[in-house]
Amino acid sequence: MKILSASETDLETAARALREGKLVAIPTETVYGLGANAFDERAVARVFEAKARPTFDPLIVHIARTEDVRQVAREVPERALALARALWPGPLTMILPKKPEVPDIVTAGLDTVAVRFPSHPVAQHIIELAGIPVAAPSANPFGYISPTTAAHVAAMLGDRIDFIVDGGPCDVGVESTVLDLTGREPVLLRAGGMPLERIEAVVGPVRIPPRQAATVGAASLASPGQTLSHYAPSTPLYLFELGSLPGALAGAAMPHPSLALVYDSQRAAVLESTGRFDEVVALSPGGNLGEAAARLFSLLHSFDARHFEAIYAERVPEEGLGRAINDRLFRASKK
Ligand code: TXA
Ligand code: MG
Repeated sequence: MKILSASETDLETAARALREGKLVAIPTETVYGLGANAFDERAVARVFEAKARPTFDPLIVHIARTEDVRQVAREVPERALALARALWPGPLTMILPKKPEVPDIVTAGLDTVAVRFPSHPVAQHIIELAGIPVAAPSANPFGYISPTTAAHVAAMLGDRIDFIVDGGPCDVGVESTVLDLTGREPVLLRAGGMPLERIEAVVGPVRIPPRQAATVGAASLASPGQTLSHYAPSTPLYLFELGSLPGALAGAAMPHPSLALVYDSQRAAVLESTGRFDEVVALSPGGNLGEAAARLFSLLHSFDARHFEAIYAERVPEEGLGRAINDRLFRASKK
């Protein structure tokens, strides 16, 4: 594996590698993706292999111009066009009817395809230079936390892929919002980097299905990657309501070392003063959901390396990016 910079020559190398069927990890505004030519079945098969990802879990196809959605989608409903005009490029993935040209391995045999136009300039430039749609899941082994730096990718997948393009840390920090636009009403399949409020401002009410306690292998999952353990770090993480620590642990024996992960410095000060945790970390000292999202996975990666016995996490406010953060914390708490 070779690490490439964001220089023009290196991006040309990355684009050529993609065209030749190689695996290239690319930075996006959400998380790093493990890219392959979406029209090259063998390259896409290697993506599943490198991630040890079950092939029933379909990939997102990335484009760098809105009109290229027609290369992979058979039909683009007016609602999808309106969303593309308002919110692309950005952390919104749309599920649309698939064109037969898209290999089945990309979509796990579904007749729909997930499409996203990322806003990261490096991702855009690589896709433009490659001249092909790029299939890319998050660049982590299946079931692990998504990478938000090139170093995370190198540590997790370095020996199984061809190139990593280092575009610095990801700004958004949680994966894209996945929205199904194939039915009568838009359905939220994954809360993510595009706040629901901004989507509803364009298309009106979005249906939010009750959280599915997904079981691995369930072919009928609406969004097959939404297995509960999908974001699990290896340190046990226990999730609590906002403001409920340490009360919710009253009388419990504390393991050492333990860590409390809370929203802002106000909550951190409250928990520090109890002396019950060995360390207390605020997702966003100033209480900003964007900052909290951007730091979440990086913090979880760093906690894993430090071998805490337990992480006690509090939810953040359930609004804007808070929905995606709470969803990832919830998944991290399920093993
Ligand atoms: O921000 C992101 O979305 C990142 C960057 C790299 O773009 N990608 C990412 O990919 O998170 P991945 O593979 O980790 O998650 C894709 C999600 C999965 O939950 C998958 O099941 C769902 O999108 N998905 C893909 N195609 C689908 C389809 N046709 N129907 C329903 N869900 C689909
Ligand atoms: Mg993923």
